Amino acid sequence: MSRIHEALKKAEQERAAAQAGQAQSGFVPAADREPATSVAEELPEAMAAAAPSSSAAFTAAIPAAAGPFSLDALLARCSHLEWKPDEKTMLFFNGDDNARGTEEFRTLRSRLYHLREKMSLKKILLTSALPKEGKSFTAANLAQVLARQPGRRVMLIDADLRGPRLHLMLGTTASPGVSDYLRGNNDEFSIIQRGPVEGLFFIPSGHQISEAAELVANGRLKVLLQRLEALFDWIIIDSPPSVPVSDASILAKACDGVVMVVRSNATPIDMARRAREEFPDESLVGVVLNGTDTETSPYTRYYYDTYVRVTESKS
Ligand SMILES: Nc1ncnc2c1ncn2[C@@H]1O[C@H](COP(=O)(O)OP(=O)(O)O)[C@@H](O)[C@H]1O
Ligand SMILES: [Mg+2]
Repeated sequence: MSRIHEALKKAEQERAAAQAGQAQSGFVPAADREPATSVAEELPEAMAAAAPSSSAAFTAAIPAAAGPFSLDALLARCSHLEWKPDEKTMLFFNGDDNARGTEEFRTLRSRLYHLREKMSLKKILLTSALPKEGKSFTAANLAQVLARQPGRRVMLIDADLRGPRLHLMLGTTASPGVSDYLRGNNDEFSIIQRGPVEGLFFIPSGHQISEAAELVANGRLKVLLQRLEALFDWIIIDSPPSVPVSDASILAKACDGVVMVVRSNATPIDMARRAREEFPDESLVGVVLNGTDTETSPYTRYYYDTYVRVTESKS
């Protein structure tokens, strides 16, 4: 975190200094400028804008109604389903370990393990400023790459109750799921799915509802996550875009860390900045630059513990 802070602070200072300099002395010829070594110059602006800020603390929790939540009970009572994953977006399902994009997810995995040595990190929220930036894509593939390690149990949760997509990517049913649990209609066991991937479990978004913000804020999600964390090594949570709606910032308060997805050449810098402002400094653990072109992108260096580029995967 401190490296993110330092780098972004430096970037802001450099920008401010550059603007002040230009205002005073007019245009500076390219040959007179410093060599291109600063973070501000080398990182995409939108990504640099996805830096930590401040926010408030979490609220109350409502007790869950279900009985003992043991691994045996989970395995016996969750739904065993045959998923039909979308091979275009589910990079690890086609059996090709070298498929384009898979290496970046392995890098992201090792960044997260590295971070976990320094902080408590199990429940990770994936978010971004706007729709279509790759939150669901990143969440689904991250969960898969984490589950590929022998003996690991990973829970993937679709908490985007407004525009759920994970069930489509995995090729499975959308309900019962999160919304049904938050309404008190279902217990933990009945919303959890198991598919063909050893170690990977999934909770879909559930039946479509109109009161997403109220449900997400009612405290039951925190209870669900507390119960799940005893049985899982990682819990990966997909969320709605954080600029138009408040769900993601509410969800973040029940998680250990937030990973912000920034879409290469797409996320406007002011939107990335606004998204960042939704989350407290300490909760933003990393930034994923999604959709880069490996061959042409100049952004080939890793600056931060969890800064990872994810290339555009073309089928
Ligand atoms: N790196 C990528 N390579 C290929 N397709 C991608 C990539 N990132 C996102 N997509 C595709 O772009 C679309 C939008 O991504 P999605 O993850 O659903 O965005 P969000 O969850 O932020 O709304 C989906 O069809 C997804 O499969
Ligand atoms: Mg999504």
